Order: sequence, then structure tokens, then C-alpha cells
Amino acid sequence: MRDTQAIIERVSRLSDSVQRLHLAVDDSLLQIKPGQSLLARVLPERWDPYLREQWWPVGILEGQLVVERPGNLGYEPGQAVSLLAPVGQPFRYKRNLRNVLLIADHALPIPLLMAVPALIGNRVSVTLVLAGMEARRYPTQVLPPEVEVIHADDDLGWPKQVMTFGWADQIFVVVSADDEMGRMQRLWTRIRELRAEIPQYYLFAVAQPILPCGAGACGACLVALREGAVCTVCLDGPAIDMTKLPFE
Ligand code: FES
Repeated sequence: MRDTQAIIERVSRLSDSVQRLHLAVDDSLLQIKPGQSLLARVLPERWDPYLREQWWPVGILEGQLVVERPGNLGYEPGQAVSLLAPVGQPFRYKRNLRNVLLIADHALPIPLLMAVPALIGNRVSVTLVLAGMEARRYPTQVLPPEVEVIHADDDLGWPKQVMTFGWADQIFVVVSADDEMGRMQRLWTRIRELRAEIPQYYLFAVAQPILPCGAGACGACLVALREGAVCTVCLDGPAIDMTKLPFE
């Protein structure tokens, strides 16, 4: 992870809920992979009580890194940004992957989206489930037309759910931060009810706890695993195989 400086070159609003920042970044950050993120602080540096924001890239366009941010936050072209990055490990996809299911449960799906164009380009089918108002507010018209979008109800229900889970080779999930592990547990239970078993490397929680250091030093992002083990989201995550979580 390196500390570099970027410039916000352009701000484009996709909807009321999402905006895109086009960042001129150090060349090293153009190697960032899906699953990895940035810890950002808009400069000029001044003392403030807030931690860095976690920014998720969604692509690279004309040599600039593009990130998506909630629409209610204020950014201006020309602003300088301090970036600690990359944070975390890239998503690990199965070989011979054919179908990927992305689920956003009461949260914007932004952390899941960077890989979508490459997956489509590799003839992998992508389905995105948006459950809850926050997720459904995502402007899906910016996604490649090949992506199947399912609008689920607030209780994570949608038609032919058994088929959707059975068809997926891998599932990546983001949930709202208000009860991250509770919502992950709810999804785990739902899938357990609909499938005989959940194998390893099939279902991944993409965790988004607050990351004060991003470097494994503070322990704020520790996650308890089965049999007393732990992992850090900033070093080992953000994707955690849910078979390792201590769910019933
Ligand atoms: S954010 Fe400090 S250990 Fe992960």
C-alpha cells in the first residue's frame, strides 16, 4: 500500500444517489484490481475528526481511475486527494467461471462492479440483485446491457430464487453497514434453505467495516471466523468466504 496524491479531474452525476469521480492518479494505481479499494482524504490536509473514506474503483477510462461515490457528498474538479492504496486483496474467481451472481442488500452495489466489463468480455453471465431501497436506487443504465438486473423486495425475495442460486458458480454480496454480519447471516440462512449445501469458494461476503489504518495495524476490522480464527478485512478481505464465518 502506498501513499500517493491524486487530482479530481471530473465529477459526473449518474443519478441523485451516485456520482463518478475521474481521478488522475499515480501510474501504480492503474494496476488496481476488482476487490481492492482506496482510503481517501480530500486535501488540503487539516485536522479533522473523520477517518479516510473508502473509495471503490469501477474502472479505468482514458488513463484515469474512475470511482463511484454516494451522490449526497460534495466533490469539485481540481481538488487534490491523498490516497492510501491499494487496500485488500483482489476478488478470486473460479476457473471455468460461467455465471456470477452479485447481490446488494440495502446497500449500493459499487464494490462489486469493477469486474463486470471484464467478466462480460470473458463470456461470463452476470446477474445483479438489488434488494432494498438503497440498492434499488443504483442507476443500472450505466451497466453493460448484458447484465441481468433483478429488483428484489426488502426481504431479499425475488421469483425463481432457487434457480438463481443453483445457476450461480460464485456469489459476491454487499450489505448495508447498519448490521453487516446480521444481514450476511440472513442471506446465508436463505441460501442454506434453498440449497443442500454451500461449498467453499461459492459465497463471499464483501465486508465494508470502517478501516482506520488499512494496514493491519489497528485491529478495527478484525472478523471472527470459525474455531476461534480471525482475519482482517483490510489485509485478507474484503471478500470473505462465508463458509469460514461462524454462521449456524
Ligand atoms: S483497518 Fe486497521 S487493522 Fe484493518
